[in-house]
Amino acid sequence: MASSLNNYVINVVLFLAIIHFKTTSSSSHHHHHHNNNLKSIHFSLYQHETINKTGYIIVNGIKGNAGVTQTTTPFGTLFVFQDPLTLTSNRSSKLVGIAEGTSITSSLDGLRSISIAKLTLRLKNHKGSVSIVGGTNNVKASDHPIVGGTEDFMFVQGYVTSSPVDLKGLTVVYKIEFHIYWPPYAIQSS
Ligand SMILES: *[C@@H]1O[C@H](CO)[C@@H](O)[C@H](O)[C@H]1NC(C)=O
Ligand SMILES: *[C@@H]1O[C@H](CO)[C@@H](O)[C@H](O)[C@H]1NC(C)=O
Repeated sequence: MASSLNNYVINVVLFLAIIHFKTTSSSSHHHHHHNNNLKSIHFSLYQHETINKTGYIIVNGIKGNAGVTQTTTPFGTLFVFQDPLTLTSNRSSKLVGIAEGTSITSSLDGLRSISIAKLTLRLKNHKGSVSIVGGTNNVKASDHPIVGGTEDFMFVQGYVTSSPVDLKGLTVVYKIEFHIYWPPYAIQSS
């Protein structure tokens, strides 16, 4: 029961994603005339990070204000991760990408960091990677500008919003919302 309901939900989500993609991409045929009608896609995935399994502290930060907790790390902590990206917040749901990156704790209270990551995606209609960079708040939603991409995401722009979903336990879960836009010259060259 639960798994057929789950499949149903995934199918509906995929269906809506396809409809949305068709709607937004069809407007790209007019990009010569309407520069505002950029091709874009919008979707969400879930990032799962397990401490000492998919994410590790590589360099310890400065001893002081903040300790190592679920939401804080000492100023200057260098953290590296290779996390799975799945379709739903359930870790057993379909694996559609990986997030590889690093973050350095950049606020003295230990709550914020500067993050650099490459998100490799294997979606139904798009394959490749997007690279992001920006500030991450460990307890609030954070927008990370997309600085570029590879393969089907060559030249893309936009942003990725990362929000904590579950910070309890060994595996923390973040919702990653993608807002990807192709500039006109990316469409012409593909
Ligand atoms: C992860 O590994 C470090 C170094 O071995 C250890 O100090 C820390 O307690 C571990 N953390 C967890 C949550 O297991
Ligand atoms: C996650 O998915 C698995 C496999 O579909 C299922 O057995 C499990 O009950 C799900 N867990 C939750 C918390 O929904």
